[in-house]
Parts: sequence; structure tokens; C-alpha cells
Amino acid sequence: MCGIIGYVGKENAVPIIVSGLKKLEYRGYDSAGIAVCLKSEKNEKDELKNWFKVVKQKGRLSALEKCLQAKPLISSIGIGHTRWATHGEPSDVNSHPHMGSKNKIAVVHNGIIENYRQLKERLLNKGIEFASQTDSEVIAQLAEYYYNGDIMETVVKVASRLEGSYALGIMCLEQPDTLYAIRKDNPLIVGLSEHGNFIASDVPAVLKHTNRVYYMEDEEIAVLNRDTVEFFNIDKEPIQKQIETITWSPDSAEKGGYRHFMLKEIMEQPRVVRDTVQSVLPGLNSENRTVIEKINIGDYDKIVVTACGSAYNAGIVGKHVLEKMCRIPIEVDLASEFRYKSPLVDSRTLVVLISQSGETADTIAALREAKSLGAATLSIVNVVGSTIAKEADFTLYTSAGPEIAVATTKAFTAQLILLYVLSAEFAVQSGRLSGEEHRWLFDEMLTLPDKITQILEQTDDIQKYASECVGYKSIFFIGRNIDYSIVPEGSLKLKEISYVHSEAYAGGELKHGPISLITEDALVVALSNSERLFGKIMSNVEQVISRGAKVLLIGNCPYEDDSGPVCAKISHIDIPQTLEYFSPSLSVIVLQLFSYYVAANKGLDIDKPRNLAKSVTVE
Ligand code: F6R
Repeated sequence: MCGIIGYVGKENAVPIIVSGLKKLEYRGYDSAGIAVCLKSEKNEKDELKNWFKVVKQKGRLSALEKCLQAKPLISSIGIGHTRWATHGEPSDVNSHPHMGSKNKIAVVHNGIIENYRQLKERLLNKGIEFASQTDSEVIAQLAEYYYNGDIMETVVKVASRLEGSYALGIMCLEQPDTLYAIRKDNPLIVGLSEHGNFIASDVPAVLKHTNRVYYMEDEEIAVLNRDTVEFFNIDKEPIQKQIETITWSPDSAEKGGYRHFMLKEIMEQPRVVRDTVQSVLPGLNSENRTVIEKINIGDYDKIVVTACGSAYNAGIVGKHVLEKMCRIPIEVDLASEFRYKSPLVDSRTLVVLISQSGETADTIAALREAKSLGAATLSIVNVVGSTIAKEADFTLYTSAGPEIAVATTKAFTAQLILLYVLSAEFAVQSGRLSGEEHRWLFDEMLTLPDKITQILEQTDDIQKYASECVGYKSIFFIGRNIDYSIVPEGSLKLKEISYVHSEAYAGGELKHGPISLITEDALVVALSNSERLFGKIMSNVEQVISRGAKVLLIGNCPYEDDSGPVCAKISHIDIPQTLEYFSPSLSVIVLQLFSYYVAANKGLDIDKPRNLAKSVTVE
């Protein structure tokens, strides 16, 4: 987590860095800071006395902005950082950038230095004083300790001593017009614009200025000046890299008039679903389609899906659909557990990694573990050029565009689509689906955008209902079968942005324990999209109502309100009919809106929920 940015160019670096940090704030928001290089006039000995000005503040970026407004700075070069605290509490002193004790080198760091204690110990023994409790300060101190006038040599030496992960932006007072950058296991891009050059943790930070970027690989060094960018390998030999053109529009990383990115991203889902289905249409000459056609399910005995958080929840839906359509055994594992459980995977296993960012540390570790065991790996990723996308044997991209809100919505929805598509393809390959049925499934998928639009047109009802639910201390999500596969996502969404305790259960499981928690203070959100199980879920609904709970029923099963005593306690949100397999794609829209409006009614910071960061690059 943490976001870094750097700029060197013709314009004032300060507003450019601050606006870039705004786009990276999703990566952490415990504190933010900036360092710029200020140049003095030549003194009588014809010497230039440059110095660094560092401003850093605990709290949101707005706190840093206030300081910079009170005392504006102008410089053509600078580095900035937004922090998600790992080592050392959120405080001004632990904020980045960090400096060496002689104030000659300034560093911003995203990642974790695992051997920082040993390195710090050695530097302390040499009399070097530390200002912070962070692992990152060790990098700045070490760099200054090694610096002998050759900053490139210093970067190489420092990198050889660091264990762990890092993306670094480095400035040296003696080269006040040059930025250095290096990465290992954490993302870093270099952007080129007419007025100057950038380093950043992610594309949205530079999208306002350029769509021309380089993706840095591990242990590559970038050297940026106002008009030039050069790359070197760790042996300091020049290397050529391929420039990439980003197709995202600059507006895609803006709120576009919405109060929150999350609401904007929820509203974008008809477009996202359409684009994602269209990226894999049979007969199309697209990257995604080419990848799908390379995978032959006959080569594998089983599929293992592994991911974290919502991406894991997408895997649960995927298991349900894949198993039913293809009759292949599917396991879904949390990526954070995968490598510790001696996973039963081999060359006859297809391991599917799902990740919006493509940079989640646990998912990367699971990918590497699966590869080391000889499995074939397929990733479903949103961020082009990310580590998971690059390292997997096959990669399918979701067409969600940049997702800024910490709580994922549109990327999750796009992941579901690709899992449905894989189910349909594998079912055809294994002879369980005819060509006609396959076409029909695609036709049905192509109706989903309009159906999602119909739900988005009912936001007033959902908003009204959510406003009545603000007082609940505990909310239970229940469903059966396909509905049971999507309730974990409803529950996760609610707890992460509204801080309301919630649980997801199979409807039939309540009576085996959790029903003891059902009282008049509980709300139960029940899903009903399976006609054959409607009677069953309604029995569960009656069981909780008779214990005092209120119920929100969401689904496409015909539900008649006869205003009887049971019905008086049920509110109902109808969703359009679709094939049962695809119903999670519609239910989840209601669940996202419900969580959003509960949080909005509580006045919470929806895009940046407490303690969370979007891209979890630590284990
Ligand atoms: C929840 C959420 C997280 C992520 C998880 C994995 O709304 O966003 O649970 O799903 O951290 O992140 P990615 O998909 O980037 O691997």
C-alpha cells in the first residue's frame, strides 16, 4: 500500500504532486508528505547551495494541502507520498519523504523492508541518528551512508542490501534536476509528458498529464530529467523499454459530479458489464478472446481459484457456476492461506487468480506458489501491466477502467462476467453445452447491462430503505444456493464502508447456531432468486421474523405482499428476471447500493473507510 509520485519538469512540481497524491490516496491515507529541491543563488565562491524542503502531515491529504497553501512552495522537482502505516504509528515524523541525517538524500517508499532492524542496528552503531520508527527511513540513511558522489552506484548498493519489497523515488541534492526510481515487488510506472516526466505507483496519478507510460520491472532503475528518461538494469547497463499507451480517459479517474467515487463506479456498471462481455465475444479478434481460446479445460483435472476479499467472493460465485455448468471440481482458497496449506495442485491443475489491482501481495505469493508446483495459472485482473497480469501464464482483463473507491464494485461485477464466460467456454469444451446454448448464454449476458440500469433507476427506493436501517447494530445476509454464493459480498461491502457488524449465512444454517443472535434489533437481508428454493428461503424468513427481526427481501421470485402479519415485517426490492446463474450480477447491485446508502446516511468517508487501503501490498 502507500502511494508514491515524483515529478521533474518545466512546471511547479508541488500542485502536480498534490493532485497526483489525490489519485493515489486510495492506497493509504494515514499521512502524506512532499519533498522538493530548492535552489539558492550562487554564493561568492560560485557555489550553488541547494536544499530540500520537506512538508509532511499526519492525517488526510487535505492536512498537507492546508500547510502548502499557508506556505506555498515552488520547485521544478519533487517527490510525494501517501501512507498506510505499517512500521510506526501514523504521525508527522513517521510520514514520508524520509531524509538521510545529512539532508542530502530524500526518499519515498512503498513496500516493506523486512531486514530493516538489522540495517538500522548497523547504522546506529556507526553513529547515525534516526528520526522515525519506520522501516523506510533506513533506505534514506543507508543511501546517504553509501553515497560517494555517484547516486546510481548508491541506488544499486542500497538495493543489494534491502530485503522485502519496495518502489522508491529518490532525490539527491547534488543532482538537483534528476529523479531516480527503482522497484522490487511493488508497482511503479514512469510517465512522459510534454512538460515533464513522472514516476508514480499507479496510472491515475499521471492520467491528467499523459497516457504514455513505461511499466517498470523489478530491479530496473529509471533516471528522469526534465526532457529525458533512461532505464538501466541493476548492473547499470542501459536498457530499452517499450512505451505503453493507456486507453483510459482522464475523466475516468475523476468523480464526474458524483458525491463519491463509489457511487460513480456503481453507476458505471452497465458499461463495464457490456465492455467485459464484448471483450470475449466468440469470433472476436481481441486479446481476451485469444487467451480464452488458448485454454483447454481437458488439460486439467481440477480448478483452484484463489484471491482475497471481494475477489475471493467473486471466486465463490465462480465456483457455483463453473461446477454446475461444467461438472469440474473447483476449490476456492483465500490467497493469504494458499501457500501455507500445502496446496494440492500440480501440472493437471488450473489455478485462477482474481485481482482488481493485480498487486495484492497474498495473491502474488499464491500465484508464485502455484507456478512453483507446476500448475498452469490464469489471472483475471483489472490493472494492465500489473505484477499478477504479467506473471500468470494466461491473463484475462476486466474492462472496469480505473477503480478509485477503496470498496470495489465495478471490478467485482466484471470479474463475475469473466467467470461466467469461462464456465460457458469450459462447458462447451467438455461437451456439456451445445453451440446453440453457448450463444444463448452470451445473449443472456448481453441483456445484463439493461437489467442493471433498471436497478440503478430504483436507487430512490433503496436509499429510502437504507435510511431506515442506519440504527441496526447487526445485519445478517442470507441466501440459498446461487444466492448463498453472493451474500458474502453483500456482507463485506456493508461492514467495510458502514462499520455495521454483519454476517453472511446460508439460509438453512441459521437454525444451527446463529439464530440465537436474532432479536428485534436485527435486520436480515434475504435473497430469493431461485424459484425452486423460494419456499425454503421464505421459511427461513418466517423463522427470523417470529424472533423479532425485520427482513429486506431482494430478488426476482414473485413475492405477493398480502399485508399479513409476516408481510408487515418484510420490505421487498424486486430485481429483473435473468438466468439463475447470472442473478448474482443483479443482486450485488442492490447490495452495493444498500451499503452505500447506509454509510452515506451515517455521514462516513465512503471512498476511504477507516483502516483500509485499496491495494494491499503487504502480507
Ligand atoms: C473490498 C475490497 C478488497 C479487495 C481485496 C483484493 O471491497 O476491495 O476486499 O477485493 O483487497 O484486492 P485485489 O482485487 O486488488 O487483489
